[in-house]
Amino acid sequence: MEVMRIEGGNTLSGTLSVSGAKNAALPIFAATLLTSETCYLENVPNLSDIRFMAQILQHLGAEVGQTAPTSWKITAKEINHRAPYDLVRKMRASVCLMGPLAGRLKKAEISLPGGCVIGPRPIDMHLKGFAGLGMEVTVDKGYIFLDATNAAGDSIFLGGRHGSTVTGTANVLMAAVLTPGKTIIECAACEPEVVDLCKMLVSMGANIDGIGSPTLTIRGVDKLGGCTYSILPDRIEAGTFLIAGALAGKNLTVTNLRVADQGALLDKLKEAGVNFKIDSATSITVSKSDQPLKPVDVVTHPHPGFPTDVQAQMSTLMSITPGISIVTEKIFPNRFMHVPELQRMGADIAIEGPNAIVKGQSRLSGAPVMASDLRASAALILAGLVAEGTTWVLRIYHLDRGYDKIDEKLRAVGAVIERLPEKDMPQDLNPEDA
Ligand code: EPU
Repeated sequence: MEVMRIEGGNTLSGTLSVSGAKNAALPIFAATLLTSETCYLENVPNLSDIRFMAQILQHLGAEVGQTAPTSWKITAKEINHRAPYDLVRKMRASVCLMGPLAGRLKKAEISLPGGCVIGPRPIDMHLKGFAGLGMEVTVDKGYIFLDATNAAGDSIFLGGRHGSTVTGTANVLMAAVLTPGKTIIECAACEPEVVDLCKMLVSMGANIDGIGSPTLTIRGVDKLGGCTYSILPDRIEAGTFLIAGALAGKNLTVTNLRVADQGALLDKLKEAGVNFKIDSATSITVSKSDQPLKPVDVVTHPHPGFPTDVQAQMSTLMSITPGISIVTEKIFPNRFMHVPELQRMGADIAIEGPNAIVKGQSRLSGAPVMASDLRASAALILAGLVAEGTTWVLRIYHLDRGYDKIDEKLRAVGAVIERLPEKDMPQDLNPEDA
């Protein structure tokens, strides 16, 4: 295993370019199963999750090739319908294979993915959506079986206690594009990644109205064709970099983002007094403010609300902002795995139910810390950039699932950060040895 060593206190300046969005690329890879023709995908981030998805597609029978660092070619001429546990358990997002398999083959057999560190991740709404399309849905021996022989379009409401569902919407949508009749998905997720998937499906010949709205109307077609599609920029990576700029930037320019996708974060950064300038629709320059920032309260919501995937990183910023900030997590109410690790670096954060009460400190100090999930890892990297002394982040394989070469990117703008084999870490600092 590798660890990340960060020397805090260095200024970040220059340009950080955002890669393609993981959470758009994953369902878009799955959507290539909807056609026997070739799909060419561009602006694909270089991530372990993408490689997992490629492996699963290959297992299902697709020809999958990486033609350039960010380009992939996928041809799913003949595929089978079964995704086994040993592949699916590595990545929850593989649940979004159900929709394309049921849409194209009229049957699917997929292992249930199992537990997740950020809290319970039920898929009841996905299954409700498939049943709403007239599929027979059976759960047996850890697998979900879908029989779509008699599937037909219908009205399906996909809202739950925590709002809409991103991969649930993607799943039902991907099944519906090849299901006869008219499907209406109400309370559909409006996340930019769902919009990107819709656009890719339309480029394959799907008939979808209401893209970007909570009501998607899909008229099933008999067949979809191949496409060439470029994945949208990752708004979560972009948000992470903007927060890095607020913590340690001096004219740090974040490019290849979409300003339009950053509304909720920019609103909070502005309220906090972060010094940023929108250069264009795809670029923002941010600097650490000369004045102390102001505490802000943040509540996560489905898009266009404040994204849960930036909650941990925002908590790092608030942990060195004087005053008290309250961060409320409404999507995954237990998603506070970063908090005990930030506390080890000197943050003062108390968890009360879905609220983190953050008392801003004047400094954080470097420490060995353990990454627990993707966004918690990002929050710890950000903390390491501003902490006094050395921070060691262990279990960085979480980070590599969703951030494309974050260490190289940050190093290029002045961060002192390096990836090392875990054995090179001083033994007395390694909590894994305890
Ligand atoms: N939910 C249900 N039943 C369902 C589906 C969801 O109760 O059938 C609940 C969830 O437990 C949660 C809420 O609904 O409380 C929203 O979950 P959603 O289904 O939208 O999440 P997801 O599709 O499983 C995607 C991203 C997550 C991101 C969430 C929320 C992918 C591959 N994953 O997950 O990304 O946090 O949407 O925006 O797109 C990450 O990238 O670090 C990550 C976890």
